[in-house]
Amino acid sequence: MLIEMPRHTEIFGSVKIHEVQRILKIDSGGFTNPRARDIPFDEIKDVLGRFAVIVPVKDEKIHLLDGVLRAIPFDCSVIVVSNSQREAPDIYKMEEDVVKNLHDLTQQEILIVHQKDPDLGFAFYDAGYDCLLDRDTVVRDGKAEGMIIGMLLAKSLGKDFIGFADADNYIPGSVREYVLDYAAGFCMAESPYSMVRLHWRYKPKVVEDKLYFKKWGRVSETTNKYLNLLISTCAGFETRVVITGNAGEHALTTKLADILGYSTGYSIEPYHFVYLFDQFGLGAEIITDTDTDAANAGIEIFQIETLNPHIHEEKGEEHVTNMLLGSLQTIYHSKLCNDYVRSKVLEEMGDIMKWDQPKENVIMPPIGKIDAQKFVTLLERTAKTFARFERGAIESESKVETKTDLKEESV
Ligand code: GDD
Repeated sequence: MLIEMPRHTEIFGSVKIHEVQRILKIDSGGFTNPRARDIPFDEIKDVLGRFAVIVPVKDEKIHLLDGVLRAIPFDCSVIVVSNSQREAPDIYKMEEDVVKNLHDLTQQEILIVHQKDPDLGFAFYDAGYDCLLDRDTVVRDGKAEGMIIGMLLAKSLGKDFIGFADADNYIPGSVREYVLDYAAGFCMAESPYSMVRLHWRYKPKVVEDKLYFKKWGRVSETTNKYLNLLISTCAGFETRVVITGNAGEHALTTKLADILGYSTGYSIEPYHFVYLFDQFGLGAEIITDTDTDAANAGIEIFQIETLNPHIHEEKGEEHVTNMLLGSLQTIYHSKLCNDYVRSKVLEEMGDIMKWDQPKENVIMPPIGKIDAQKFVTLLERTAKTFARFERGAIESESKVETKTDLKEESV
């Protein structure tokens, strides 16, 4: 792969944010030059073998999920965390069928679990991580909650890199590219605490019966503006380095996943920045040993512009407004947010704010202390919706026989 070198890196305390890098060629020829870095495919393949891709899904069209799963490179493990409907028509059952069929045909390693499985909730309770549970000890709704489940499963597989791919993507080829872009980012990383965030080249919309290749969405444009304002006012130098505030498509090293705090729902992505600024930014007070290690190594953020455009399901205006609210709330409550930034954020929230003051998003602490093996052993023993289809098993059904039986009883 041939990828542009970043023109500049913004250093904010221990956080290094690289300016956007364009993908010049997905399959390159080994030609290096000062403006671009060639990453040989065997290096990318090495990363893919240590990579789990998590697909959070909630009631998406089954054809879209099928395309996304088939696009993820074989060397990666795939983890589907579903919060889809269980009442008839049981969408989760359809998703399980797609997963099982894909495994039968390809032998790729795939794990699947339902977010509302009561035994999954119990496993979190048992692990002492009950911040994502509701009153009935079941995991709450929310994409972030699904992502945390996926990250624990990835850790139990011993993976070094964890990435995410939304299930509502219409272009399987773009999903394949996203995963390769993640891997390329990790090949360039110098710190074991690094993250790769994707910036879609275009997000096409239909405008007056024609496709319009739009570059910026309302939510990301606004989120980026205020994240940049946060850094600019703290550092005293204006910057526009952040362009991936809402990057749903992102990946991180497991070492970084272990020390990050997470915000609920869709505010998880902008909160990555806010957490890192609060914890490791300019003037932050480093307290724990693990944080000292990360602060010394530096936390590296790559922002890669994809070659493919992103075409996905549109979920409507209210959904977009809620996403924007979640992002702005997160920035408003940053430790680094001064009165000036707060007043600007409040102005921006104007009519869309539903409360007198911006609410605080629910924050979930780092997952590093959870024993992922114990967590998954408990799931394997108890959770009816949990299935693990191993890579290259000769009898593809053998591993999940008893689970499948159990599942059929529960449908
Ligand atoms: N497991 C799980 N649980 N998955 C969920 C849930 C949930 O409660 N809610 C949504 N998802 C899944 C969706 O099915 C989809 O695969 C993915 O999470 C993203 O959700 P969408 O509702 O499609 O979000 P979006 O497309 O509007 O926004 C995406 O892009 C934004 C950047 O533009 C998301 O990835 C955002 O997080 C991101 O900020």
